[in-house]
Amino acid sequence: AVLILLGPPGAGKGTQARMLEESFGLVQLSTGDLLRAAVAAGTDAGRAAKAAMDSGGLVSDDIVLAILRDRIAEPDTAKGVILDGFPRTEVQAKALDGLLAEQGMAISAAVSLEVDDAAMVARVAGRYTCAKCGEGYHDTFKKPTVAGVCDKCGSTQFKRRADDNAETVGARLQAYHAQTAPLIAYYDQAGVLSRVNAMGEISQVAAELGKIAQAAT
Ligand code: AP5
Ligand code: ZN
Repeated sequence: AVLILLGPPGAGKGTQARMLEESFGLVQLSTGDLLRAAVAAGTDAGRAAKAAMDSGGLVSDDIVLAILRDRIAEPDTAKGVILDGFPRTEVQAKALDGLLAEQGMAISAAVSLEVDDAAMVARVAGRYTCAKCGEGYHDTFKKPTVAGVCDKCGSTQFKRRADDNAETVGARLQAYHAQTAPLIAYYDQAGVLSRVNAMGEISQVAAELGKIAQAAT
């Protein structure tokens, strides 16, 4: 199965992808995570991507496509993938269609996580993750059960993303509306689109997505 999660920064793509990964045995492919790993490793792609990421703009299609192509070719993706943050432009969407056709695969579902822009700034500004296992948390909406200790792995080290500040979030929302939102119509025309209200509780959104994933896998 190939599930696509579409939505602005803070919509919950990463949170939901990790939950679907656990319940359906799919593999989360986040181009944001792959790009941050490339920046941290100081690869050519990472060096080229850094400025766009810091400013909240999109990284060039050729860099993103090269990274995604390499990752999707790894053997663990055979059971199915959740694409989190990809595609983000029409060029990427068309390239994905070609890539999947080559492998005899097709998109099972594209889900648009529908939210209000205003709420997204608060979600992104309060976000942090476990430095060891990557579990996501929020200052208000998703605190660890025991303060300062990761629920999943027990680590006490957490980190925040460099681009999670109010100015950059505005630019990221703009990039979403200008370049990514048109993909909602693209997948609607392809007959694979579902819309999920992602303003509710994390567990409610997960229940809606679970039904879609169940039907698709
Ligand atoms: P990326 O890493 O993809 O960031 P993003 O799209 O801005 O998305 P986020 O990770 O901010 O949000 P999310 O939807 O995953 O929300 P989350 O689940 O964490 O991209 C970063 C950058 O990389 C881009 O700006 C661009 O430069 C580049 N890039 C990446 N992919 C690219 C591509 N394909 N092409 C070009 N450039 C690319 O949730 C947010 C917070 O809210 C969390 O704290 C969470 O606990 C909380 N939360 C989640 N759901 C709920 C809920 N229902 N109620 C309350 N709180 C909630
Ligand atoms: Zn952890």
